Amino acid sequence: MSKQISCLEMINRIEYPIDELEHHKRQQAIDLVRKELSTDGCAVIRKFFSKAGLNALLSEAHELREQAYYSPKKQCNVYLGDITPAMTEDNPQNIFLERSNGFITADLFGEESASRRLYYWEPLKRFLADCLEKEELFIYEDPVSNMIVNVAKPGQRFNWHFDTNDGVVSLMLQTADDGGEFEYAPYIRNELDEN
Ligand SMILES: [Fe+2]
Repeated sequence: MSKQISCLEMINRIEYPIDELEHHKRQQAIDLVRKELSTDGCAVIRKFFSKAGLNALLSEAHELREQAYYSPKKQCNVYLGDITPAMTEDNPQNIFLERSNGFITADLFGEESASRRLYYWEPLKRFLADCLEKEELFIYEDPVSNMIVNVAKPGQRFNWHFDTNDGVVSLMLQTADDGGEFEYAPYIRNELDEN
């Protein structure tokens, strides 16, 4: 585990001085995220980590990857649920796709790990809240699933699914050598129509 690097050192502070609330570059980054979110529901912050920061997070994930949890349930629908006999076979609820990726659960990361410290780091939380135009973000205290690392070996995949939360913040630690497409479809459902 990387204990030495501070949260500040993990961030590319030249481009993203997120701890300096009045810095114009911080505001620029927030404005860009808000614009992208309002356009298509997804925003990408590029080169957010410093090289050392990315290495620290990545090496922790590598150390723990053999302990990743793989669900015994390999076929899932968009609700990660079961077959609905009352629905027709071609109903989206009855369409099952492969979900074979693994998860390094939060409880595997030590208190002093770079990953855990970053998750609880106030300036990052404040920055993300500002990006998302929320007054405050709250820590999800579930010790197993509050901060997970998604692990995909060659050929593994995570099926199409609806998230159960309003949004997701993902940190890309390592891109796929090949493939690795991320697909999403914004604004396809509302409170009255699952579409
Ligand atoms: Fe998701």
